[in-house]
Amino acid sequence: MGTSNSVAVVTGSARGIGQGIAQRLGADGHHVIVADLPSMQDGVNETVAAIEKAGGKATGAEVDVTDEESLSRLVEVAVDAGGKLDVFVANAGIAQVEPLIDYSKADFEKIVDVNLTGVFLSYRAAAKQMIEQGNGGKIIGAASIVAFRPFALLSPYSATKWAVRGLTQGAAMEWAKHGITVNAYGPGIVGTAMWDLIDEKLAAEEGLAKGEAIKKYAGDILMGRVSVPEDVANLLSFLASEDSDYITGQTMLVDGGMQF
Ligand code: NAI
Repeated sequence: MGTSNSVAVVTGSARGIGQGIAQRLGADGHHVIVADLPSMQDGVNETVAAIEKAGGKATGAEVDVTDEESLSRLVEVAVDAGGKLDVFVANAGIAQVEPLIDYSKADFEKIVDVNLTGVFLSYRAAAKQMIEQGNGGKIIGAASIVAFRPFALLSPYSATKWAVRGLTQGAAMEWAKHGITVNAYGPGIVGTAMWDLIDEKLAAEEGLAKGEAIKKYAGDILMGRVSVPEDVANLLSFLASEDSDYITGQTMLVDGGMQF
């Protein structure tokens, strides 16, 4: 496969971890399809410009990962741009901090729709194209530390990430015969807009000052700091490369050694 003519899609890459992954894959030589919601196209353009400025290749695209037709169109964008699809990173996700007792059915369904159904639809759209091409591929999904140990007040979010672990392992079993590896990444605390929101709400729910909740969890990170998107992007660089060809069905933590 090699990265020199590889085409890699990253969903949710207008900001945060996805933006970091897209920039790293661009620097590694993949032609990156930077995809996010229609309302996030300013961020998409920013990511594309950053990749191009660093000498890489990128194409911006719209996607809503809860919509299967939108995902089919995204795969077409990748094939139009680079002739094929080699890597698909299902990074898009949402979070909501709420006591379980107050969590509405609509909100539960929404988080499942984006974080789990969205990953399923992404994996399926990517695998269909890769199987048709007949040359293997790399499918990679967003899990989390909470796919192994839940945070209180993030239970439905945790459940979706736990399910992504199972989906990843099952998909790996079904698609290995096509030379496709399927793995997931599990960040700990990454200082993004999503974490700011979680931190603010956790602090409010626990009666702490803003910034205190992150300290409460960050105090238990062996490496002594919360992470930045580049920490996650380092793992993704490996998972998207031939160096990870003998690894499949795994959810790999990149959490600095969280001890909670
Ligand atoms: P973020 O909120 O900064 O970025 C998420 C991106 O996904 C946004 O650009 C958003 O527009 C996009 N998105 C949301 N719904 C979408 C949809 N239906 N279709 C397409 N795009 C959509 O979040 P962050 O922190 O960058 O998280 C990225 C991934 O990493 C998520 O799956 C998240 O659950 C996971 N994660 C984040 C952690 C953190 O501490 N920030 C920790 C563990 C996992």
